[in-house]
Amino acid sequence: MKKEQVVNCQFSVWYPIFKKHTIKSLILPLPQNVIDYLLDDGTLVVSGSDHNTQQTNTNRDSDAEEDIQWSDDETTTTVTAPEFPEFTSKVQEAINALGGRVFPKLNWSAPRDANWIALNSSLQCCSLSEIFLLFKSSDFITHDLTQPFLQCSDQDSPDPVINYELVLRKWSELIPGGEFRCFVKENKLIAISQRDYTQYYQHILKQEEQICHAINEFFSQHIQYNFPDEDFVFDVYRDSQGRVWLIDLNAFGEVTDSLLFSWEELTSGGIISQQQEGPAFRYTNSEVTVQPSPCLSYRIPRDFVDLSTGEDAYKLIDFLKLTKSQQEESEEEEEEENPPQ
Ligand SMILES: Nc1ncnc2c1ncn2[C@@H]1O[C@H](COP(=O)(O)OP(=O)(O)OP(=O)(O)O)[C@@H](O)[C@H]1O
Ligand SMILES: [Mg+2]
Repeated sequence: MKKEQVVNCQFSVWYPIFKKHTIKSLILPLPQNVIDYLLDDGTLVVSGSDHNTQQTNTNRDSDAEEDIQWSDDETTTTVTAPEFPEFTSKVQEAINALGGRVFPKLNWSAPRDANWIALNSSLQCCSLSEIFLLFKSSDFITHDLTQPFLQCSDQDSPDPVINYELVLRKWSELIPGGEFRCFVKENKLIAISQRDYTQYYQHILKQEEQICHAINEFFSQHIQYNFPDEDFVFDVYRDSQGRVWLIDLNAFGEVTDSLLFSWEELTSGGIISQQQEGPAFRYTNSEVTVQPSPCLSYRIPRDFVDLSTGEDAYKLIDFLKLTKSQQEESEEEEEEENPPQ
């Protein structure tokens, strides 16, 4: 995979070519101060309002011994959140133009690894502050911003200049069983994989031929020879009426998840020689039992989220009781070890 191929897979390169066949989207240039903010580890959330005030707990009981110490000092700290008024209003305008709910991305990636942090556990956003929360929590977004050419074979050539962009796509309820990833080598569709391979979908087994046929038609009529590269990976969605839509374009290489194939198979020619009549089609069959979701390793324990958001008050009370009893236990142990003189 060459740097040029990565450049060609940017949203703003492929979207104008295939606009008619994909979800309506808007592209906004990302100002440098917003990029700096996204890369800054220190500040987590921007409020969207003028100031974000964080108060330490000053409301304390008279009995200081019994009280939980939330903070070392009792002063009130004010954290000024960064403000991007012009950008904020442009983004809000774009969100409204797309129906009020969007799926956000950068040049290549969506923050798929961060949906656990959103209140609705989804990538659906209605405001810039929701987008920021996802972007700042996502390793995939950081990858786009800091090392987009990481796995390219032409490391000695200078990195092409990238103009970072915020991509807002109209929110669409996509059924995961309708999503497929298609691998194109030398302008030939060589392989198709079920995208959500951790699940078994009975309809895929039943409609294998129709699905393959529909994707093949879509490729030869709309995609083939229209993209600047001859090797690439495209994602599609087949809706309930059987119509195929383009969802994304990705580089043909290790940075792209090869799902039910391996990159070795896809690049060595093994897949091409096997198929005379069309692409190899792989999907999960019923024999496969439950598999973990690929983004699971990016998540944190549910208990932690409940505690931090105060969502489960009883869990919080249990947690505080536990901490207190542990403290008391260790104090007792200390006393036993060092009996008072
Ligand atoms: N407009 C949309 N509305 C709702 N969900 C969407 C939308 N676009 C994409 N999705 C969902 O999000 C998933 C990821 O989207 P997309 O492929 O654009 O992200 P990505 O970061 O490029 O992923 P990958 O790293 O796998 O290439 C899709 O498989 C689809 O389920
Ligand atoms: Mg992609």
